[in-house]
Amino acid sequence: MMRKPLMAGNWKMYKTSAETQAFFEAFKPMVADATHGDIVICPPFPSLAAAVEEARGSNIEVGAQNLYWGGEGAVTGEVSGYMLQAAGCRYVIVGHSERRQYFGEKEADVLRKTRAALEYRMTPIVCVGERLEDRESNTTEAVLAGQFDGGLAPLTPEEFAKVVIAYEPIWAIGTGKTATPAIAGDVHRFLRSGVALKFGHTQAAATRILYGGSVKPDNVKSLMAEEDIDGALVGGASLDPKSFAAIVRY
Ligand code: PGA
Repeated sequence: MMRKPLMAGNWKMYKTSAETQAFFEAFKPMVADATHGDIVICPPFPSLAAAVEEARGSNIEVGAQNLYWGGEGAVTGEVSGYMLQAAGCRYVIVGHSERRQYFGEKEADVLRKTRAALEYRMTPIVCVGERLEDRESNTTEAVLAGQFDGGLAPLTPEEFAKVVIAYEPIWAIGTGKTATPAIAGDVHRFLRSGVALKFGHTQAAATRILYGGSVKPDNVKSLMAEEDIDGALVGGASLDPKSFAAIVRY
């Protein structure tokens, strides 16, 4: 069973196109010989073109942070999978907790967006994760099961086979509080067993599950040592070329 590691940088609302260009110029040579895994950078929409241009011919793929379902239409302020694919995106983050918290995205949205990403041949990185109060009230597994059942389980096996899952405990995002490798490993095992129940053991062994939440150069190795952690979705530490390169090369 071989799952190729995947390190994805989620830049959130940071970096103009000029800053994106500068990042890539520094970052590319630092990871040019890192062939053991996939490397993805997800800049904000206006910087996608610069990122795609810079990533051309390199071992780096570009992803978006969100999408709307449908191809074109009267939907002010939204960007579709059709447009992202045409712009050169190969990945897209779906259901990030910041989208769920600030923009009220629900499981049904996650499902529609995941399907839209697949329709336009991008790999959706679908985020799940519990809040601090869920963890404190011992409902972490119920919350994650609800997110999985609503956002991922309705996919066909063919659709699900192309999905990457990211486990991001909300209490660990941008807080400097990383889940310990043991906590994250437990959740990843739980998620993988859910995948096995719904889509079978072969699929469960193949599905990549990333960890996200304060991943840094100094904790990535211990997280990646967990058998069920297949990569990382990195916010803050992906903004600096040196630090993200250290994570990629863990
Ligand atoms: P962080 O963000 O690495 O800054 O905690 C991770 C994420 O939100 O994807």
